[in-house]
Order: sequence, then structure tokens, then C-alpha cells
Amino acid sequence: MALLEIRNLSRRFGDYTAVDNISLSIEAGEFFTLLGPSGCGKTTLLRMIAGFDVPDAGQILLDGVDLTGVPPEQRPVRTVFQNYALFPHMTVAQNIAFPLEMAKTPKGEIQTKVDEALEDVRLTGFAARYPHELSGGQRQRVSIARALVTHPKLLLLDEPLSALDAQLREQMQIELINLQKEVGITFIYVTHDQAEALALSHRIAVMNKGTVEQLDEPTRIYSYPQSRFVADFIGTCNLFDGTITQIEGNTMWLDVPSMGMVKTSTVPDARVGAKGTIALRPEKTLVSAEIVRGVADENHFDGHVKELLYMGGVTVYIVETEGGARLETLLANSAIGRPRFFEVGDAVDVAWRIDAGHFIVDGAHG
Ligand SMILES: Nc1ncnc2c1ncn2[C@@H]1O[C@H](COP(=O)(O)OP(=O)(O)OP(=O)(O)O)[C@@H](O)[C@H]1O
Ligand SMILES: [Mg+2]
Repeated sequence: MALLEIRNLSRRFGDYTAVDNISLSIEAGEFFTLLGPSGCGKTTLLRMIAGFDVPDAGQILLDGVDLTGVPPEQRPVRTVFQNYALFPHMTVAQNIAFPLEMAKTPKGEIQTKVDEALEDVRLTGFAARYPHELSGGQRQRVSIARALVTHPKLLLLDEPLSALDAQLREQMQIELINLQKEVGITFIYVTHDQAEALALSHRIAVMNKGTVEQLDEPTRIYSYPQSRFVADFIGTCNLFDGTITQIEGNTMWLDVPSMGMVKTSTVPDARVGAKGTIALRPEKTLVSAEIVRGVADENHFDGHVKELLYMGGVTVYIVETEGGARLETLLANSAIGRPRFFEVGDAVDVAWRIDAGHFIVDGAHG
């Protein structure tokens, strides 16, 4: 049995549906992420799990028990918010001890539990400080310690790192992965940052307009987006509309206006005449100065470099094919003595393996 089961959950505000008939289940010990653009319903969903908001329809079951009517403080669920929400007049230790005191934990146990929680978030020695004497990252660690100290079954984190700068975020991401492994508590993490979701999660639910568009492991979300929305939202992706003209075993031929015939791997719901979109990641393409044709398991197109973006480790090249299609490609600047490989105007060949482009059949979602 799943730890958390959400069944046909909906929440409307007036005639606006913020959460639209969502069903999903989360296993014990998972690092589960809700990912989606601003306003897609992530916080609303989280608030209903915590009990701060009441669904208009559907059920939430924890360990098989329906949570309808259970007040937030009686749910084995804790939430960490973006804005820390620490008590400014209390020390770190007093902040962390607060939920234990509310739960009438014996005095003798409180000290030990607070010390353990401080150790979990690597803040041993900070017990006597006040929130204003801490950095942003340290404050957020205190919030997490305070949420973990009662050993909830579920920890909800709503954009907990979004107030931190890029470098600190990355460090905190690594700490969160380790912390979740150590304490073994199920995390439901909310973010609109796709890179963060990919880095942290065991599974991701990609949300759009109150619904879940795709629920999968990070590598599958990235490599096999099920809808145009997911392909576009997760990382950079070239998207080309086309029509299937031929299917032979594992290979399909697609007619793409502005490019011509493009081959991709066959997808389950493919049939000749069906329209859809090819999703192709820049790093799956190869740009070279040599014009190549007729390699059986690759696509090749002639083009010119239209624009380039030097980014240090890599250079992004926008290549325009003879038919007028624009492709974003990427090359690592790894050759010794070469800051980059091409200049604007250079004639190039863009190639990618048949299985590098993923075809999304129209109407498959979103
Ligand atoms: N109390 C409320 N009353 C009316 N509308 C609300 C209320 N709470 C949320 N909404 C609306 O519901 C939609 C979903 O909001 P929600 O806060 O869940 O989005 P989110 O995915 O968390 O976005 P963000 O990434 O910006 O935090 C939004 O359009 C929002 O305006
Ligand atoms: Mg939100």
C-alpha cells in the first residue's frame, strides 16, 4: 500500500479550478516532487495534504486512513515554507523544541531530540543563536530541523530554497538529498525549477493548469516527455511539427515542413498520417564541418550557423537548415587550444541518431 494516496482531488476558487481531479500515490521513503509553472496548483495541492485547505471533491489517504476532517496538527505531516517562518524572539533550540512542547513531549526527551535534529541539519553548536544571527541557508535548515523533530511520516517542502542564491541552493540541494536518505522520511517537494526537480527527486509529477501532465522518474521525464508542454517546460528542447508518412519496425519517417524527412524511433500510438511533434534535446545533436549523408541510423541536415552563445564550458549554436528550420545545438568546448569550433556563417552538418528524437503524437496530452 502506498503511504499517501490522492484520489480525484479537486479545489475550486469561485469558477476557477486550481486543482482539477488529481489522482496519484506516493510510496514511503520517496523524494517526490510537484513541478510546474506559477499558478498551476502546487501550493494548493500541498495545503490540502497538510490540512490547511479543504478539497471540494476527492480524498487524501495516509496509510490507508482518510484524512477528511482531520485537523492539520493531528496529521503526521509537517510543512517547510519558502519564508522560514521561524519565531524571531526564540533561539534556534527553542524554535526546534516548540512542536515537541506542543505535543507535550516529556522535558527530559526534548533536549536529546533537539540535539539530534540539529545534528541532522549540521547545525550542532548553533542552539543558542537567534534567527537574525543566522544566514538564509542556516535559517532554512532550522525550519527543516523543526519540521523533522517530531518524526512526521510526511514532510512537505514548498519552494524551500527559492530565497537562496544559486551557489547556496546547489549546496542545500545536496544536503537535502543526503538528509532525506538519512532520516528516511517521505518528502513532497514543490518547485517551479526544473533543474532542481531533476536533481533531487525519485519521481516528479509535472503539473499544468491544475492537472498532472506526466508522472515519472527524472530521466524519463527528460528523455521521453509525453506532451509538448512537458518537453518545453523541462530544459531546452527543439520542437518540430510533422506527419508520419511511413513506419517500419522501430523506425518512423516523418514529413517535417522546413526540414524534409526526419527519422525517429517508433512510438506505441503511432500510425501513418498521424501528426505530432518531434522533441530533440540540443545535447543530442552533433554539429560538424563535414557534410555527411546516408548514414542509416542518423538524421543529417546541411545548414549554416546563424547565432552562437559562448558559455565557457559549452557553446550553443543556432543552426538554420536549408529548408529554414532553426535548430539549437550544443558543443562542449573541450578540444585543447580551441575556444570554440564554429563562427556565425559557417556551413555545418547537424546530425542526430534516430533514437535521439522523441515523437509526441498530437492529442496524447496537453
Ligand atoms: N485562496 C485563494 N483564493 C482564490 N484563488 C486562489 C487561492 N489560492 C490559490 N488561488 C489560485 O489558484 C491557482 C493555483 O495557485 P497555487 O498557489 O496553488 O499555485 P502554485 O503552483 O503554487 O504557484 P507558484 O509557483 O506561483 O507558487 C492560482 O491561479 C491562484 O491564483
Ligand atoms: Mg506556490
